[in-house]
Amino acid sequence: MTDDVPALRTLPRHVGIIMDGNGRWARSRGLEREDGHERGADSVRTVVRAARKVGVEVLTLFAFSSQNWDRPHEEVFHLMELLRRYLVQERAEILDNGIRLTTVGDTKRLPEYVRAPLIELMAASAQNQGMTLCLALSYGGREMIAKAARDLCRAAIAGQVNPDDINPEVFESYLDSAKVLPPLDLLIRTSGEHRISNFFLWETAYAELYFTDKQWPEFGHDELVEALQAYSKRERRFGMTSEQVRGSGARGSKAAGLD
Ligand code: IPE
Ligand code: IPE
Ligand code: MG
Repeated sequence: MTDDVPALRTLPRHVGIIMDGNGRWARSRGLEREDGHERGADSVRTVVRAARKVGVEVLTLFAFSSQNWDRPHEEVFHLMELLRRYLVQERAEILDNGIRLTTVGDTKRLPEYVRAPLIELMAASAQNQGMTLCLALSYGGREMIAKAARDLCRAAIAGQVNPDDINPEVFESYLDSAKVLPPLDLLIRTSGEHRISNFFLWETAYAELYFTDKQWPEFGHDELVEALQAYSKRERRFGMTSEQVRGSGARGSKAAGLD
């Protein structure tokens, strides 16, 4: 593995990752699924470091979905323990590197032993100006859209919003992700599955999608750079023509002045 980052034409501001394949990585090696999650946590450390070094502004990691609560109790418990351990062990590195920690998802469902260090670290890092690390926890895209719809209905009933004025921009302002994060530019999924699995449903409308057969424990610095290189070769047209886009410059990306 190398720490060198080749020059990239454009860098996504906001990268989301569906970190999948811990279980299969472990099983194929005769290990327990839990061992895969442990190794997956190592990948989280490596990839957060790499993203910060490369200059990604926001990294959202899909760590636990609304549907993952339905996994066997022991596995859910282990994942919660792992999350707590991650928050405790990474606290110093997050603060030392100016990383701002935030979350999306129904974090009220998390056990107190996870919620307490999470809330503490979010508060301690709130003023940091470096990379934003967003953990999607107990997160479901449909659940978030339904929540936005509920909040919007309440606002309409209270007379704060005229239903005739509701357009995508207004709706989006009720989505938790849009309140704390810029638009998603690149979505990465590991493990060879080609699906969104209820991650950022609204947010993927114009995100670039990148799928790799690598399992999450195998995904590190070089794999992230590979994904960023693929992104930098894409042309994002947002429904327009290539000529229009080339004339105006791509939206949602920035030049990566890296050497
Ligand atoms: C991703 O790996 C971790 C979580 C979803 C929490 P998986 O546990 O889904 O691993 P596979 O997909 O079964 O291999
Ligand atoms: C998506 O992976 C959720 C996370 C990575 C947290 P899953 O393993 O839960 O997705 P499916 O079941 O393969 O669609
Ligand atoms: Mg999976």
